[in-house]
Amino acid sequence: SVSVIGTGDFGRALAVRLIQGGYTVHMGSQDPGGRREFLEAVSPALTGVSIVRIQEAIQLSNVIFLAVNSQHHESLKQHSEQLVDKILIDVSNPDKPSKITSAAEKLQALLPSSHVCKAFNTTSAYALTDGSSIGNKVVNISANDLEVRSTVKRLAMDMGLQAVEMGGLQSARDLERRQQTLLSASNCKITRGNSSIRLHALFSKYTLNFRRVTLTYIGNGFKVGSQWPLNVFNVVLACMAINQLALCYLPGCLAAFIQIAKGTKYKAFPRWLDLWLKMRKQLGLYGLLFAIMHACVSL
Ligand SMILES: NC(=O)c1ccc[n+]([C@@H]2O[C@H](COP(=O)([O-])OP(=O)(O)OC[C@H]3O[C@@H](n4cnc5c(N)ncnc54)[C@H](OP(=O)(O)O)[C@@H]3O)[C@@H](O)[C@H]2O)c1
Repeated sequence: SVSVIGTGDFGRALAVRLIQGGYTVHMGSQDPGGRREFLEAVSPALTGVSIVRIQEAIQLSNVIFLAVNSQHHESLKQHSEQLVDKILIDVSNPDKPSKITSAAEKLQALLPSSHVCKAFNTTSAYALTDGSSIGNKVVNISANDLEVRSTVKRLAMDMGLQAVEMGGLQSARDLERRQQTLLSASNCKITRGNSSIRLHALFSKYTLNFRRVTLTYIGNGFKVGSQWPLNVFNVVLACMAINQLALCYLPGCLAAFIQIAKGTKYKAFPRWLDLWLKMRKQLGLYGLLFAIMHACVSL
């Protein structure tokens, strides 16, 4: 049996996957009575799962997933006696990872008699519950004890995931930092403002110089309406949203055409397309940002 502390998005996803892997799962919650109905409503696969108090969940298993935010790790100190010699899997991704240590190492220092292991933080609740191949299903495992790493590796494989041993708990620093690179991947420098700001400037110039100011201004007999700065700004935002979204979806279509033309999906794409494909998340986020701004200004 395996315990999962925390009944949030990730705790539930882990529990579903563990049950599918043949494990008996005990979910530890601060409010087991109150959470049952919610849990069964949002995750029907968890109907009938054992939901107990955190202390009981710790007692019931030797392997415990800690699916709570890292700022709550301190609260485990009160259970340190029951946690002696137990494997504690820290899945957290701190909002602001420390430059000198990791949340997993801090947890190990807090609970020196437990075996802390960093794992599962590089996958998402969505990837775990989604049956298709979308999403990262590779579990990176860091732990000081070789046997602990093997146990967690076997667990991950039973859950239908791939597992990679990263080494001692120190390697958790890299795993935690890796999750913070959403908008700073070195190969995506071009999207870090540069191209978007240039595109924004281009649309502003076009809209200001030509479409609104020149044409409307002339058309209105050279009278500037009080709304025009807002309108100009809003047109730029709309253009930006549409273009960023188009830039987000276009490379996927091009890639599909290339695969059809080549008759295989096992040939590498040209480098420019490869880079473009890797930027899609950032481009989509920029598109969403501009669309939200456009909606706000329109309102
Ligand atoms: N969501 C993801 O896709 C994902 C992916 C990778 C890693 N993670 C990591 O997984 C952890 C949980 O993420 P989440 O998305 O599931 O968060 P969440 O939806 O906010 O759930 C966190 C859960 O922690 C429990 N909790 C809150 N305060 C607590 C406390 N003081 N002591 C013990 N338990 C407490 C609560 O469950 P009860 O009310 O039942 O106690 C709460 O539902 C985070 O560290 C996150 O970085 C999440």
